Amino acid sequence: MSAPQLDIRKLANRFPRWNPRYYTLCKFATDPLYEAVFAALAGTNLPLLDIGCGMGLNSFYLRERGCTFAMRGIDYDASKIEVASKVAAAHAPDLVFETSDARSGLPEHAGSVTILDILQYMSADAQNALLREAAARVAAGGKLVIRTGMQAPGWRFQLTRIADWFAACCFWMKAAPVTYPSPGTLAATLESCGLRGTIRPLWGRTPFNNWLAVFERPRP
Ligand SMILES: C[S@@+](CC[C@H](N)C(=O)[O-])C[C@H]1O[C@@H](n2cnc3c(N)ncnc32)[C@H](O)[C@@H]1O
Repeated sequence: MSAPQLDIRKLANRFPRWNPRYYTLCKFATDPLYEAVFAALAGTNLPLLDIGCGMGLNSFYLRERGCTFAMRGIDYDASKIEVASKVAAAHAPDLVFETSDARSGLPEHAGSVTILDILQYMSADAQNALLREAAARVAAGGKLVIRTGMQAPGWRFQLTRIADWFAACCFWMKAAPVTYPSPGTLAATLESCGLRGTIRPLWGRTPFNNWLAVFERPRP
């Protein structure tokens, strides 16, 4: 599930320098993540808070797929927020990107929330606190969509850790991975916050042990 409906080269070419451009092109071409988020959010029109948004790929993808709801991304890496903000200013000026550390609290929000590939940079306690804060911002009928590498025996998990360490060693990421959740602990935390949903592998054509959690706050 890559992005057959989109001109991903056109999207990637909006990024100012060759390295974010090439990264964006590879991500959209090989990673099923953004199309899976689009599918998960289908049918909702609530504003979206994207925690750990990086260069804003999720928001840019969703906007290009026709999602019209408000989107706000936060990330603690100011250089990535600068790139996202520049692309937004030229092509999607209503998208908002802000520098903020998710471990120091989340902005006020009521709607849907995405947390894509950032849990591994936090301790188990910080993951737990972030999940609870994020769940509290999911409105009735809103979704919490999480993609994360999962702790598990086997080569997929080992490759996931190696890739995360590599990203830190070449300074693409500001930090090395700390710990990975398991499907059981993730589901238990979200359900204790009143959300209901499912967790499934989302490997696509990648070798990584990535899973997608799609949880919803039921309407009263
Ligand atoms: C692997 S990237 C994923 C980017 C984006 N979510 C996506 O899927 O396109 C992980 C991102 O999480 C951000 N991040 C890690 N820890 C964070 C924290 N405590 N607060 C905010 N952002 C964080 C990193 O700066 C990085 O941009």
